[in-house]
Amino acid sequence: MSLLQCLPVATALILLLQTLSLVSSTVLSRADRITRLPGQPRVGFQQYSGYVTVDEKQQRALFYYLAEAETKPISKPLVLWLNGGPGCSSLGVGAFSENGPFRPKGSVLVKNQHSWNQEANMLYLETPVGVGFSYATESSSYEGVNDKITAKDNLVFLQKWFLKFPQYLNRSLFITGESYAGHYVPQLAQLMIQYNKKHNLFNLKGIAIGNPVMEFSTDFNSRAEYFWSHGLISDPTYKMFTSYCNYSRYVSEYYRGTVSSMCTKVMSQVSIETSRFVDKYDVTLDVCIPSVLSQSKRVNPQPQQMGEAVDVCVEDETVNYLNRRDVQKALHARLVGTRKWSVCSNVLDYEVLDVEVPTINIVGRLVKAGVPVLVYSGDQDSVIPLTGSRTLVKRLADELGLRTTVPYRVWFAGQQVGGWTQVYGNILAFATVRGAAHEVPFSQPARALVLFKAFLGGRPLPEEF
Ligand SMILES: *[C@@H]1O[C@H](CO)[C@@H](O)[C@H](O)[C@H]1NC(C)=O
Ligand SMILES: *[C@@H]1O[C@H](CO)[C@@H](O)[C@H](O)[C@H]1NC(C)=O
Repeated sequence: MSLLQCLPVATALILLLQTLSLVSSTVLSRADRITRLPGQPRVGFQQYSGYVTVDEKQQRALFYYLAEAETKPISKPLVLWLNGGPGCSSLGVGAFSENGPFRPKGSVLVKNQHSWNQEANMLYLETPVGVGFSYATESSSYEGVNDKITAKDNLVFLQKWFLKFPQYLNRSLFITGESYAGHYVPQLAQLMIQYNKKHNLFNLKGIAIGNPVMEFSTDFNSRAEYFWSHGLISDPTYKMFTSYCNYSRYVSEYYRGTVSSMCTKVMSQVSIETSRFVDKYDVTLDVCIPSVLSQSKRVNPQPQQMGEAVDVCVEDETVNYLNRRDVQKALHARLVGTRKWSVCSNVLDYEVLDVEVPTINIVGRLVKAGVPVLVYSGDQDSVIPLTGSRTLVKRLADELGLRTTVPYRVWFAGQQVGGWTQVYGNILAFATVRGAAHEVPFSQPARALVLFKAFLGGRPLPEEF
């Protein structure tokens, strides 16, 4: 392993592919196998976690957690899941609050009945360095991290991860994620396709992104109408929020440290009317009373769309669980340069203006390259509302000349409507998830699982029950 790690990745991979038959597929990953997570119920699948060094010289390492499929893992695809932020943890948010096999409850873990590892081998990556258990030994590595660096590191991570898990090398691979992962997922997929031109390594079968940031202005400015149509702001405030200062202008000014008095005035009125006691990630959600204080800290002064929030009660349980020494030991996790695991990084200094870089054009390139894309939206989210995503997908379909192959219609989960969907050219799909928050698998786990299963199978969502 150490020899392989010293070589440039591409060379190492070729070497590996040539000698694959000599490598016992379990040897390299054995050290990362999780015997048992503290408090977990008995399960029939394997779990692995640990580090992949993405830069030997600068000592930067990314932490992953793999929950293999509950049944027949060998015949199921590999799915990478990424949370956004930027700077929030796919382990804490994705695995332990959304679609992983367990949820922390007090001192134990309870089984998630709608875990995505029923359908796939789920790989959760804490990225970039400085997030969760991922680290760099030089704190300067946390400065100026941007989309480019993150995408490159994620690519190197996957290349090297396959050295540990050669049994997954040619497996169908899907990349999924939500929120700011609307940047990470397409950007990584694009690098994989470029890499594949020289070394056919990634068997990329599709991407799915939930409530994703794909185009700054369209995504952020759909907030005003969402607030207004859901009764969160008054008519005059809606007018101000769409004329004097729209939300993209506010965020743009905010990140440049130049908030105009007009925007200050408009945003202050918007904040008063929407109230800090309504969860902007699910406008129908009750706030968790004991955690109201921590939630209001989130709301101010940082504009709330930047931090990836989950239900604060769940978050508290996850924070407690992942900060236990015995849990960290079982996960082979280390805290480097920080004393506490946190949901969203306190050390990472991300290039916030990258939020303005569009990724919808990259999504278009992926579709052109034949990669199926699903954009889905929890319809109770006001942070990245469904209307912005729907507009962007429609516009892209028009640009690519894709005709509607599934007309806008309801889809079913069980006997109830799970949401609405439309598919273009049998390759670009949009779906809403009814009653779901920004974190779809957390708030509508059963519907999310139906959506996930159809996506993996390349099928349209169920038309009837
Ligand atoms: C990789 O998978 C494809 C199907 O996705 C299959 O056709 C091909 O033979 C596989 N290659 C190897 C080396 O297993
Ligand atoms: C938002 O405001 C900016 C700056 O005033 C403007 O250029 C842009 O067209 C506005 N967008 C929308 C959707 O109103």
